[in-house]
Parts: sequence; structure tokens; C-alpha cells
Amino acid sequence: MAVKETIDFDLDLIDRLIADEEATLEPKHRASIEYRTVAERSVTGGVASSWQASPPHAIFIDRGEGSHIWDLDGNEYVDYHLGYGAMVIGHAHAKVVEAIEKRARLGTHFAQPTAQLHEIGENVAERFGLPLWRFCNSGTEATLEAVRLMRANTGRDLIVKIEGTYHGHHDSLMFSVAPDPALIGPREHPATVPQAMGIPQAFADLVRVVPFNDLAEAERAFTENEGRVAGMIVEPAMMNCGVVLPQPGYLQGLLDLCHRNGAYLAFDEVKTGCTIAWGGAVEAFGVRPDIVTLAKAFGGGVPCGAIGATEELFGPVLRGEHDIAGTFNGNPLTMAAARATLLEVLTPEAYERLDAIDRALKDGIRPIIDRYRLPAYVTGIGAKGSVTYAAREVREYRDTIGIDERITYLAWLMQQNRGVFKSPWSKQETWTLSIAHSDDDARRYVENFEAFAAAVSGT
Ligand SMILES: Cc1ncc(COP(=O)(O)O)c(C=O)c1O
Repeated sequence: MAVKETIDFDLDLIDRLIADEEATLEPKHRASIEYRTVAERSVTGGVASSWQASPPHAIFIDRGEGSHIWDLDGNEYVDYHLGYGAMVIGHAHAKVVEAIEKRARLGTHFAQPTAQLHEIGENVAERFGLPLWRFCNSGTEATLEAVRLMRANTGRDLIVKIEGTYHGHHDSLMFSVAPDPALIGPREHPATVPQAMGIPQAFADLVRVVPFNDLAEAERAFTENEGRVAGMIVEPAMMNCGVVLPQPGYLQGLLDLCHRNGAYLAFDEVKTGCTIAWGGAVEAFGVRPDIVTLAKAFGGGVPCGAIGATEELFGPVLRGEHDIAGTFNGNPLTMAAARATLLEVLTPEAYERLDAIDRALKDGIRPIIDRYRLPAYVTGIGAKGSVTYAAREVREYRDTIGIDERITYLAWLMQQNRGVFKSPWSKQETWTLSIAHSDDDARRYVENFEAFAAAVSGT
């Protein structure tokens, strides 16, 4: 990427703009703020998940339809949050609603298999090129099972993961998600930093952290732990620091490295699968790993998860030596929603629509970045994209450390005050698009972005 002449962000100006935007936002959310005081009498913090309470306050949602949502105060937004990227089909899609209603009338749970499994299994097998699948209820469960399969098949304990990626909240992988820069250690040997309290050090001792997009550093982790690494898990395109794409050859290099060392490679496609292309990262980047984990968009808006792998990896399960279990695994409602989503809604043509909206956003935002000489750039692939507030391309977590979070917070506030809902915590403003997003929806985002660009450049 060519280095261009850019302005410097004026952080004092940004502080003042944040204060103005917060003052405008607060009165719009009276009902949300009041409701939280009711909920918090019996529900910890007044929210169901800690990350629903992000600054400046939790916003409670009333309903959604297509690309739009309405909050408890009646404010309407174009939704680019989409439930952390799950609602790529848009809200209340008629086909998925119908499938759920129909299934609900026939009974929603038996903890016995139903005859809905094969159509979904065949669909994801075709999309991701892996022959065998199991279903679960979240991305966390899917990556937990993936780690176990890699360990079960190798008899080894160590897992290599990327600094700055999230794979769910279980103890095997809840490390170095967005680690404090003071704790991360040298780049050649990043510290394994717990991202939650209550995780014993013994779990940290089983995880090696490496930077994204650097094959040599991954190789170092394998060499220094020869014969001890069960596998590596990677988000094939990082989605937690904006969207960070893999450098050409990187993913194939990781696969070869794992195999040379008798280890496995898992793609965590909880965010990329079903969003960036029909066949997720496997199709988009042309590399087929040993395991793929799915969740979010796979289920069309109900709790869901899936693990796909080779026959070899599922060997212990096939032979009855190892169980992947769960009361709600393959739940009929989940299966009904996933079937309608995968077979009827997220068809290959749906991805053409996502690509078109992605282009409209990028083509709208790029000239604004140039005109206002912002130290920023825009990346997108299928339903996922982001503006990253750095003049040079971010290739790994450490490249984002110098980016002041007040910039992304202001960008979030300005969109929020102007009818665009982005994920709270969306560092580097990652968005998700749905097939219901219209050209007008894209225009609203771009116009708001221009208001932001004008404000931060003092024009
Ligand atoms: C890449 C990735 N893996 C796993 C998870 C965990 O998924 P869940 O929240 O469904 O447990 C997430 C959640 O954001 C994720 O982004």
C-alpha cells in the first residue's frame, strides 16, 4: 500500500466531538437506560452478556425487519451490527420465520436425532470441502470441540493461536484476544495473556501465541515445541481488529507447516463462514484446512454451531472412543432455521448481492478518505468490512496498538446518532452486511462517514 500524505488526528478535537455526540445520544435512549435499572435488580449488570453493555450505555432492541432495527425508544437504524454478524439474511426473513414456525408446531426438542440432519450436512460439506460434520449451539462449543479433536488425534497438548483473535470464551483459547500492550511481551515470543479472570495458569501453559500473517514466527513456535503441538487454530481473515486479510500464501503455508509437524490446522470460520463467500474462507482463499468451525450466520439467527472435519479427525468419534455431546446439539429449531438459511436464502446468488453492497460502501468511503486525507483505509470481503484508522495496512494485532480507540468510538457515536447501528466494541469499525441491505442503506452509511471525516478534519 502506497504511503500517502495524511492529516494527524487531533485528539483534543475528537474528545470534544465525543462529548457533543454523547450528549446528543443520551436523551434518545431514555427507555433503554431506564429499563436497564429494572433488569439489573435481578440480572447481573442488567444485560445477558457482558459485551452487551458497552459505552456509553446498553441499548435494548425491540424488533428488526430486513436491514432495519428499532430500539426500545423507537429509534430506527440501518443495522450493520447484525447480532455480531449472525443476521446476514436480514431480520425476520420470511423463509426462516416460516421454517421455525412450522417446526415449532411439531415439537422443538427431543434430544434424539431428527431427519433434518443430512441436508444441512451435505450443504456444508459442499461449501467447505470437508466430508463430516457435527452440530452444536455456539461458536464457543465448536472451537472447544475442534481443539479436543486435534488433541485427541495427536495425543499432544499444545495449541498455537494467533495474537488478537477470539475463538469463544472457553478456557482452552480465551487468551490474547485483545491483550494489554503492557503484557504482550516480545513479538518473537508473545505472552499468552488470559482474557478473563479465573482461568488457571495450567491452561495458558498449553497455548502458544503467534502474530498473524507471519509464517516464520509460526514456524518458530513449532520448532521450539517440536513434537508437542496438536494443532493450530486461525481465523482465516482476522475480524477483531477491523478486517485483516491473509497475505498470499500464508494460509497454505500454515497448512503445510502443521502437516510437516504431524499437527492439524483448524479454520475458525464462525465469522467468515457463510459471510465472505458461499464456501467461506475455504472458497475465498482457496485453502482447505483439516477442521472448520461455524456458528453465527450458519443458523440464520437462532443459537447454532457446527464442526466440519476429515474422516481421520472424526476417527475417535466414529470408533466410539470419544464423544461430542450436548443436549441441544442438532436441536430441531436450529436445524430448521439452518436448513432454510443455507439451502433457500444464502444461495450463491445471495453472495453476489453482498459483494455489490460491499462495493457500494467501499466505493463511497474511499474517495472521502482521500478527499479529507484521513490516515485510514477501507477493506471488505463479502458481508464483512471495516475502516481502519491507520495510514499503513494492518497485518497483525500489534499494528493496531497505536490506533487511539477514541477515533473508532467517535466513528461509532456519529453513525449511531445518524441512524446506523454498528457493533459496540467494533474496534476499527467492522461491519456486517445483509442481503436485505439496500443501496439507500449503503448511502446512509457513506453520508455519515463523510460527516465524521469533515468533523475530525475540522472542516
Ligand atoms: C471467530 C469467532 N470464533 C468463535 C466465537 C464464539 O462464538 P459464540 O459467541 O457463538 O460462542 C466468536 C464470537 O464472536 C468469533 O468471532
